[in-house]
Amino acid sequence: MSSDRSQACERTPGQAGEGPLVARVDLSQLVANMNCLRRAAPGLGMLAVVKADAYGHGAVPVARSLVAAGAEGLCVATLAEALELRQHGLQAPLLVFGDRRPESVPIAAAHAIDLAVVSAEHLRDLLPLVAQHPVGLHLKLDTGMGNTGFQVAELGAAMDDLQALRPNLRGVMGHYTDAEAPDGKSALLQRQTFQAGLARLREAGIAPPMVHHANSAGCLRGFTEGDTHVRCGIGLYGLLDLPDAEPAGLRPILELSAEVTRAVRVPAGTPVGYGSTWVAPHPVTLATLACGYADGFSRALSNRAWAGFNGGTYPLVGTVSMDAVVAVLPADAAIRAGDRMTLLSRHPEDPHSVLQTARLLGTIGYEVTCALHRRVTRQYF
Ligand SMILES: Cc1ncc(COP(=O)(O)O)c(C=O)c1O
Repeated sequence: MSSDRSQACERTPGQAGEGPLVARVDLSQLVANMNCLRRAAPGLGMLAVVKADAYGHGAVPVARSLVAAGAEGLCVATLAEALELRQHGLQAPLLVFGDRRPESVPIAAAHAIDLAVVSAEHLRDLLPLVAQHPVGLHLKLDTGMGNTGFQVAELGAAMDDLQALRPNLRGVMGHYTDAEAPDGKSALLQRQTFQAGLARLREAGIAPPMVHHANSAGCLRGFTEGDTHVRCGIGLYGLLDLPDAEPAGLRPILELSAEVTRAVRVPAGTPVGYGSTWVAPHPVTLATLACGYADGFSRALSNRAWAGFNGGTYPLVGTVSMDAVVAVLPADAAIRAGDRMTLLSRHPEDPHSVLQTARLLGTIGYEVTCALHRRVTRQYF
């Protein structure tokens, strides 16, 4: 064992020009993905969803590319996310989905940031503030999501408040729960509820210029009739998972690679990681990678995931640590400290693509990239 260990070759992560753990993001494919979504919704404006740091891809560079390529607006979840974009010089129209705090209104108005109105109570709270702080508002209708927005039945009682805020109302919006489903049933039901809400508003003379209900799946499946805009997130990042079809033209834009901090040939019987949950069955090469659950690489991937190197894929073994995970390669593998292995591949068919990794975890691609911690270096090309 000691002679095997003596072949170890160690190096401090980050000595190379790039960080030990790097997410490389292809901004031209991002724009290609946006254009692909646009082709599915001809004539509609694109509100690009860049919340959660652009689903982990980096909100500022992603937003800059999309706006430069013609996105009509940007959407985020919180006021802080919107302010980050403004602070980085993004002037595009901005919509915040989920901030109902009265103290946010003057700040949003001062930075030309629109707010979604998420409930009747929120609308009432806005009334005394908006005269002084004229903020743009998008009225959210709960067409089936069941967690935010107005029920159509609530609109009647809110009509006086809506009339008072009419000059500020820029849009009416809804959100699909399951536009991915091949039968389209739930999307069609939601569409009907949305149309009923829009009709109820129109009867009262309320017809804001923007109407938007579709996320990426709704956009690609064409559930957009009568809308002026689409609100796409996951499709921009090339990670839309449709059960019945390849989302034509959409490609993943992020690849995660980690530096090998140690490569060592070990004999059979060598344990790996906390709890020694994996033990080498025969002589192998262990490659330790500078990536752990603190980076957003889930501990639930322990002994389940894969990493790519020089065209091959190799299992990750042992428990994922906070800052390290270990790949196992053949004993004679030509790998050394400073080499890089791919932990999330851009090729959907790879066992370590984002979507395959999500499936291993019993989750969705959104969660895999959103989890990537800010300490992961982002590089853009
Ligand atoms: C209100 C709202 N609109 C649009 C989107 C974008 O959805 P998708 O990423 O599925 O395109 C989201 C994402 O969760 C959302 O919360």
